[in-house]
Amino acid sequence: MTRHVVATTPIEGQKPGTSGLRKKTPVFMQPHYLENFVQSIFNATGGAEGKTYVVGGDGRYFNDRAAQVILRMAAANGAKKVIIGQNAILSTPAASNLIRIRETDGGIIMSASHNPGGPKEDFGVKFNNPNGGPAPEGVTEKIFEQTKTLTEYAICDSTDIDIATLGTKTLEGMEIEVVDPVADYAEMMAGIFDFDAIKALFASGFTLCFDAMHAVTGPYAKAILEGTLGAPEGSVVNAVPSPDFGGGHPDPNPIWAKTLMDLMFSSGAPDFGAASDGDGDRNMIVGRNAYVTPSDSLAVLAANAELVPAYKGGLKGVARSMPTSRALDRVAEAAGYACYETPTGWKFFGNLLDAGRATLCGEESAGTGSDHVREKDGLWAVLFWLNVLAARKQSVAEVMADHWSKYGRNYYSRHDYEAVDSDAANGLMQALRTRLPNLKGRVVEGMTVEAADEFAYDDPVDGSRSEGQGIRIMFKGGGRIVFRLSGTGTEGATLRVYLETVETNPAALQDNPQNALSDVVSAADKLAEIRTRTGRNAPDVIT
Ligand code: G1P
Ligand code: ZN
Repeated sequence: MTRHVVATTPIEGQKPGTSGLRKKTPVFMQPHYLENFVQSIFNATGGAEGKTYVVGGDGRYFNDRAAQVILRMAAANGAKKVIIGQNAILSTPAASNLIRIRETDGGIIMSASHNPGGPKEDFGVKFNNPNGGPAPEGVTEKIFEQTKTLTEYAICDSTDIDIATLGTKTLEGMEIEVVDPVADYAEMMAGIFDFDAIKALFASGFTLCFDAMHAVTGPYAKAILEGTLGAPEGSVVNAVPSPDFGGGHPDPNPIWAKTLMDLMFSSGAPDFGAASDGDGDRNMIVGRNAYVTPSDSLAVLAANAELVPAYKGGLKGVARSMPTSRALDRVAEAAGYACYETPTGWKFFGNLLDAGRATLCGEESAGTGSDHVREKDGLWAVLFWLNVLAARKQSVAEVMADHWSKYGRNYYSRHDYEAVDSDAANGLMQALRTRLPNLKGRVVEGMTVEAADEFAYDDPVDGSRSEGQGIRIMFKGGGRIVFRLSGTGTEGATLRVYLETVETNPAALQDNPQNALSDVVSAADKLAEIRTRTGRNAPDVIT
């Protein structure tokens, strides 16, 4: 018997956030650190005895080593089986799909999403529930409790297990099935979208650039877009996952996917551009000379859902995170289905999807998804857009123009102030909180405050309440400012300011959202005293 019980003492700071536990890689590589967290997951979920798990990650530095540890610990804890992606690779949506179609007891995903990877960058581990979605707060709380009281963990001695070869092997009586990370996911996509229409689109000469950002979607995009759908070879760029994402920052937005943005706004632009993040759940959509904000993208997908075979019967409802623009609400209102407003973080969509109350959902932070899995899904969003373009026979810019003239345009932008002194950031939020009751009726930059509150969410499915989810100030005429502190930052505090204004007169639509938002931007500074309290004159990142 090579099973060991190792005595350990709790390690500080293992509090999982909205997306699992994320830390600098050297923190995760400390003796017992990963082991403590993995054992805490097992203990908090009733033990691993007799259970089946999916394991995989986005291929970042330490992914392969961590996978070996997880396998040895699952075996030592009596798990029946682990289904693992070849070389421990699985995109987050592909892992969610596997958890669901194999009806496992959950999954362990290794990723720090869009954060850079490497020996000095970020690593992460999260547990997903049997429904394929991120563990809800109740479960992460239990995991956290375990991390604080853990005294031992179980692990097997073993040389490295061969996870490069497909097929089944055993470790201490536990079955390990190494699967092709792409196959099941590709099959699911073929069952959702009109692949024939997309094939015909490419056959007609339609061009695409998909930037996989040296991250996990490379193999998926190559197989589906180039392999199955016939996009010209070379349409998928930066397609080989690398442990440090080619030294880049795998976050698909105009800042970090600048090369793609430059291409799309150049004379040689292809018809369609897209990118995905480290673990494949985020997406960026850009047409020729036409960047689509994630909030708009979500609204457009909802408005065109019936063009996609899987959503032909109509949507049951839609959901967006609170700070996401209200462009989606306009589509839902016109179509006559519910639009739910949830706190930031994908896990809040799970109950609505499970209960059949929502079919599509999304966040302003480049996450869009549906009830096909319980994670957001980058490549799914790209295929959705291709399906819509194929059916409508229009360019991205034409689709957007039609959408805005029909529903109005919600100009939208997010301003991030990063690594702000935590006390200053908390002070800013606290000052706003105190002033909330007196804001109604106040005129700021010519706009009248209609309502102001701190967002709290009562889950309509399980009745749980989540408080303190961001401060929102609504203006007459549809403008809005939301202030929130990030739950995923790793240094100091990140203040996010979400700015929105609405134009419903098609004749008055303008091109530059930042211009349209200038009054809202200065109102935000007046209301929250951002400059004086943070000492910053401008945001670090504008998306
Ligand atoms: C950020 C995004 C949020 C997303 C989360 C995980 O969280 O804003 O929409 O769900 O990453 O990808 P935040 O840092 O704002 O807490
Ligand atoms: Zn991600």
